[in-house]
Amino acid sequence: MYQLAGKRILLGVTGGIAAYKSAVLLRLLRNHGADVRVVMTHGAMEFVTPLTFQALSGKPVHTELLDLEAESAMGHIELARWADLVLIAPTSANVMAKIANGVADDLLSTLCLATDVPLMLAPAMNQQMWLNSVTQENLEKLKNRGLGILGPAEGEQACGENGPGRMLEAEEIALLTAKSFETNILTGSRVLVTAGPTREAIDPVRYISNRSSGKMGYAVALAAMEAGAQVSLVSGPVNLSEPERINVTKVNSAVEMHSAVMQQICNADIFISAAAVADYSLESIARQKIKKSDDSLQLKLKKNPDILSDVSAMQNAPFSVGFAAETENLEANAQSKLHAKKLDMIAANQVGDEQGFDADTNALTVYWKTGQKQLQQAPKTRLARNLINLIADQYNAKNTNKTH
Ligand code: PMT
Repeated sequence: MYQLAGKRILLGVTGGIAAYKSAVLLRLLRNHGADVRVVMTHGAMEFVTPLTFQALSGKPVHTELLDLEAESAMGHIELARWADLVLIAPTSANVMAKIANGVADDLLSTLCLATDVPLMLAPAMNQQMWLNSVTQENLEKLKNRGLGILGPAEGEQACGENGPGRMLEAEEIALLTAKSFETNILTGSRVLVTAGPTREAIDPVRYISNRSSGKMGYAVALAAMEAGAQVSLVSGPVNLSEPERINVTKVNSAVEMHSAVMQQICNADIFISAAAVADYSLESIARQKIKKSDDSLQLKLKKNPDILSDVSAMQNAPFSVGFAAETENLEANAQSKLHAKKLDMIAANQVGDEQGFDADTNALTVYWKTGQKQLQQAPKTRLARNLINLIADQYNAKNTNKTH
């Protein structure tokens, strides 16, 4: 369930005997690397205590819509924006009805209205309640709106009856949740991504670098893998763990990154250059540590190779996507890089003042020859998925045009 790594899941728990299974579900999601926050309805608290979920999630459990203390820590709108996915397990007939009809009279139902991320429901209720035509109408409404419905299973129920309405087992729900992050829009394609900073040595102990953490590039690589691509990542020095199922090559300098990319580029259909590659490096690196002798020190720099330009200039160049990190004139500078570097697409981000570099969230404006799209401020993981959707659209359109 590698797809769960780093995902932010808002787990809603509603009233029902199956609420005890949610504790197991929470543990499973966390064991597979998801960051989980729990919202409980008052009904759920009749079956399990918030303390159980607090202990298992390591985070405060949210129960009230109008709780000043909770709202000041993380308000309901922030919670709705924080999540990559809202998963409600168990979902009672009442909560299903509320979501189907846009009722927002408590924290969980309000969150469901306030979020634009996917919603998945694991219904659990008495079989007659499930089979009731009102519930079935609500189910149709929810399915038509694209919500994920997990189960329910059939079998013996807590009330002693037999039939459909049992909540799926926690393992099944976790598996289906993981799978929901897969899109398959890049199945069969090979993607090469660069990420992180480069370090340009001055002497054996010093270097010139920048504040790139690699978070954006790693998120893009992961999103490409979830989209079904075979992904390779060339990474500068970062403090991130190597993603599973992605072939990672670690480098230090721009020249090393250039040669690693050039070695692998023949096997790539799409190249995404998210690395903050140093434009210059030292003309000569001191062999010994430079002594503090004079009052000033001059370092002579030479231009580094431009990896992205070299890739897009190749005869059979892959679909090439650049990033533009700008402190001013975002659109003009990004458009000029799109043309100068002969790119298919460029993702521009405003940087500086704690933006872009080394932050968990980002905002991008993506430009291509015939269009542009704004991707609003969001966690880099979610932004990366949206970017990959755009890339897949343009890449597939370009390939379709080629074949006609
Ligand atoms: O790593 P994070 O902390 O998550 O931060 C993310 C980020 C801000 C680094 C990322 O979103 C980003 O903007 N990456 C590109 C940074 C950059 O170097 O931008 P640029 O405008 O200077 O370069 C334009 C493009 O050319 C980039 O795609 C860059 O990778 C590429 N380039 C630049 C110089 C060079 N010698 N070779 C290149 O390939």
